[in-house]
Amino acid sequence: MTTTGSYIAAIDQGTTSSRCIVFGADGRIVSVEQQEHRQIFPQPGWVEHDGAEIWTRVRSVIRGALEKAQLTRADIRAIGITNQRETTLLWDRRTGKPVHNALVWQDTRTEGLCRELGREVGQDRFRGETGLPLAAYFAGPKIRWLLDNVAGLRERAQAGDILFGTMDTWVIWNLTGGPDGGVHVTDVTNASRTMLMNLHTLEWDERIAESMGVPLSVLPEIRSSAEVYGHAVGELAGVPVASALGDQQAALFGQTCFSEGEAKSTYGTGTFLLLNTGERVVDSHHGLLTTVGYRIGKGRPVYALEGSIAVTGSLVQWLRDQLGIISTAAEIETLASTVEDNGGAYIVPAFSGLFAPYWRSDARGVITGLTRYVTKAHLARAVLEATAWQTREVVDAMRKDSGVELTALKVDGGMTSDDLLMQIVADVLGAPVERPQVAETTALGAAYAAGLAVGFWPDLETLRANWHRAAEWTPRMDQATRDREYRNWLKAVERTMGWVE
Ligand code: G3P
Repeated sequence: MTTTGSYIAAIDQGTTSSRCIVFGADGRIVSVEQQEHRQIFPQPGWVEHDGAEIWTRVRSVIRGALEKAQLTRADIRAIGITNQRETTLLWDRRTGKPVHNALVWQDTRTEGLCRELGREVGQDRFRGETGLPLAAYFAGPKIRWLLDNVAGLRERAQAGDILFGTMDTWVIWNLTGGPDGGVHVTDVTNASRTMLMNLHTLEWDERIAESMGVPLSVLPEIRSSAEVYGHAVGELAGVPVASALGDQQAALFGQTCFSEGEAKSTYGTGTFLLLNTGERVVDSHHGLLTTVGYRIGKGRPVYALEGSIAVTGSLVQWLRDQLGIISTAAEIETLASTVEDNGGAYIVPAFSGLFAPYWRSDARGVITGLTRYVTKAHLARAVLEATAWQTREVVDAMRKDSGVELTALKVDGGMTSDDLLMQIVADVLGAPVERPQVAETTALGAAYAAGLAVGFWPDLETLRANWHRAAEWTPRMDQATRDREYRNWLKAVERTMGWVE
């Protein structure tokens, strides 16, 4: 069946929830359905998801989004996929059953393995080929951990019975038939986060896979970010599955950062700032990642520099769930607004070690500057400031690596509804911050890519015309305060390092 539908459905399989968003041709949202899944913490530093639960949620949000919009599969022209990156799942190709929970990108259990892999050459052993430092964040070492730790799995993998996927691959495989003919593919952006793909050739690097102990037989085929991989079965039977992008790259695309020098920052569980570097693979010397931004069909790949911050929105959740200082995430703004400043307290949320620009897995979180004066409102403020200062650090690194001076930052993601936070980000950057009307840029980016693949949208210029600014925050902080606070923040960051032996 070929559909002639007037809508594009995007599936956003994120760290905390799965969503299906239906978009119209003007890039506006028609309907949204969202469901959370369990976060499983078997030990400190370990984070898992249940792959089967995630697939159930994805199916259910597809049904929900269609129902809400009163649409059927005939109305949907194509499906786009975007996903939490690096989260690693292995499953049996015959039964379709995961062999273990997925190891989530935040999981630190492969720290020792990464140290071991870098023992002789150091953390940058594979950076030249992959753009990434050896860190627990990436998928390759997670595959190795599973193969080493699930009884009999390496033999089953070597016999060709086991498939690996990040969440794009898992969703596409199931969507297109699972054990009955599902296609086993990933896109260049997701593959660029495995530490197994060569950034220059866009193919699996056999030498690295071998050093990492990952058999090539488990790996999916690497495809572009926008092309028809296959057709759905089930609820959306016959609809082309036509895009896949890691969520941060999807947000770059949804923000229409198509030109070299354009950047966006997405504020979710973590925060990820990506700068489009065009067709150039820019090596980072200041702690950023070099990654694939997107590749549309047979077009040339577009690369990006990325500053990844592991913990921002999840720090607010921690304040809510673990400390009980607030009862909803939105309350943080109200509480933090009751004070003028942080009262001298700084929180550095190095829960999964420190990501960009440090890449220190031996770091753990700290709260510094505590006195009897400090109240929960000051702590709430310090939580918001932690997000802003971490943004500042990656913006500084980006300027040093690329020579590009940021004139404005396009932002998106759940946390951007917090006005106080956005004001603090503008203050500490000393640059304006802008949010588009459609803040769901991750799903929008996946929809755009799928729409381009099937000719629903003709070109990038049409997409650019859909971008409209909804809000802007301009800096109000004076330079002396900004400099003093930044020094204090950097002192607090130093205290996190070397905590884990
Ligand atoms: O690299 C991790 C990132 O893709 C997770 O994004 O929005 O699911 O927290 P999010």
